[in-house]
Amino acid sequence: MNKFDLLKQKQQEALLGGGVKRIETQHKKGKLTARERIQLLLDEGSFEEVGLFVTHRSKDFGMEQELYLGDGVVTGYGKINNRLVYIFSQDFTVLGGSLSETHAEKICKILDMALQNGAPVIGLNDSGGARIQEGVASLGGYADIFHRNVQSSGVIPQLSAIMGPCAGGAVYSPAITDFISMVEHTSYMFVTGPSVVKTVTHENISSEELGGAAVHASKSGVTHFTHSNEVECLNHLKRLLSYIPQNCEEDAPVYPYEAADETRAKLNSIIPENPNQPYDMKELIEELVDADSFLEVHQHYAENIIVGFARIGGRSIGIVANQPASMAGVLDINASKKAARFVRFCDAFNVPLLVLVDVPGFLPGTDQEWNGIITNGAKLLYALSEATVPKITVITRKAYGGAYDVMNSKHIGADLNYAWPTAEIAVMGAKGAAEIIFKNEIAAADDKDAKWKEKELEYTEKFANPYGAAARGFIDEIIVPEVTRVKLIKAFKMLENKVAVRPKRKHGNIPM
Ligand code: HXC
Repeated sequence: MNKFDLLKQKQQEALLGGGVKRIETQHKKGKLTARERIQLLLDEGSFEEVGLFVTHRSKDFGMEQELYLGDGVVTGYGKINNRLVYIFSQDFTVLGGSLSETHAEKICKILDMALQNGAPVIGLNDSGGARIQEGVASLGGYADIFHRNVQSSGVIPQLSAIMGPCAGGAVYSPAITDFISMVEHTSYMFVTGPSVVKTVTHENISSEELGGAAVHASKSGVTHFTHSNEVECLNHLKRLLSYIPQNCEEDAPVYPYEAADETRAKLNSIIPENPNQPYDMKELIEELVDADSFLEVHQHYAENIIVGFARIGGRSIGIVANQPASMAGVLDINASKKAARFVRFCDAFNVPLLVLVDVPGFLPGTDQEWNGIITNGAKLLYALSEATVPKITVITRKAYGGAYDVMNSKHIGADLNYAWPTAEIAVMGAKGAAEIIFKNEIAAADDKDAKWKEKELEYTEKFANPYGAAARGFIDEIIVPEVTRVKLIKAFKMLENKVAVRPKRKHGNIPM
């Protein structure tokens, strides 16, 4: 055969992965193939493949007969919105996308190139885990990947999409990466599957219930995003990248933006008259940021805090906001973990932070104390305090107790702190405060309720406002809500060349 024709023939064979029948099976499950996913994700014609002809070296269990060009993973580089990305996409049609030693080597090659060239890496995971026929060679391959994920952490963005099974050690590479997306009903993640669970704990549970997208979005918080189908998932990855720089030395892309009338009168009426009545912080966020730019992260997990990306005046920002519409916006273990992780991503990748505060404090109770609200609450405090990106705070209503300190107070390094006239900056709510400090007076009064109310009012008048904090410079300016967007656009622009020097050290020791 002509040598050129031989090459063509081999290329065509490789493109078929595990063969036409297995591709059909993949489609019947409602899943795309590894190559179809890459085509949808990358700019048209931009994909360049690396390692098309790699095959495994295993000779055990008749594996020398089971050779597939590419060995179950498609690797290479290409562009998304004209920006360079590296990609690996596991091919379930080849031995269930299982990870052999050579399959791992291909992924490692891509991770190394991504790190050396400072561009994001995207993993599309669809794999039965370690290739069982290869034993420890496969386990070693996983560890080689994990190690590279860790070396790249905070240097280049790493995104994982789970588009099929992801079992055993396979879950730990995505877990180390920055963001995980899962597809509903066709993807799942667990360290041990339902059959092992049944043997060990006698629980009868389906894959979906044990590690489906909904479970990881709401209960475990393992996944940051869920999508109803693969196309939606791939489109989401493109959008997510638009908020993120190529690496830790660069800034996120700035989008065209023309200044217009930036006053937002609607903001003046968002805070209810009754300070204990909830409102939806997301409505407030939508008014503050550029139209349709808010991309929520971890939407269904710890809903009492909101985190996500947005743009303001065309510039990418990360938002952390208490959500009064869920558990009154209280800080608990999960909220703190969720927000701390997000803050650290933003800080590592030069995305400025906007913190919106309406928080009644930390959640009391044995459940929280015994599960470590002290250590976990400290995560958010640590993360915000450590962050050197521009940091701006707006207190809309309550900023009580330790949560005032934690939520990007001036004291932990915020650059600019604004408060609305509705802000209440105090050690605690007036009712509780009156009960403690005027205990004897209330007890001695003929009409105890009336006395309590009187003292509550006294405390409210003194502390349930932003003026005491502003007098000390803890608040830089008290502003009417409608001008908040104008102020933020100007302030983030003013802070864009911020340089913060950190003490020399190997790394800090965030409470884990
Ligand atoms: C080799 C595998 C494989 C694996 C699947 N296949 N998983 N081959 N090693 N791990 C092969 C199957 O033999 C089959 O081959 C093809 O892939 C498709 O698999 P099916 O079972 O037909 O598909 P499906 O019904 O969709 O089930 C998918 C699955 C199941 C849920 C992933 O295959 C499964 O449970 N696999 C084993 C999962 C597992 O226990 N992995 C090891 C985890 S331990 P044919 O030729 O029939 O098409 C681990 C340790 C890593 O990963 C530790 C690192 C620290």
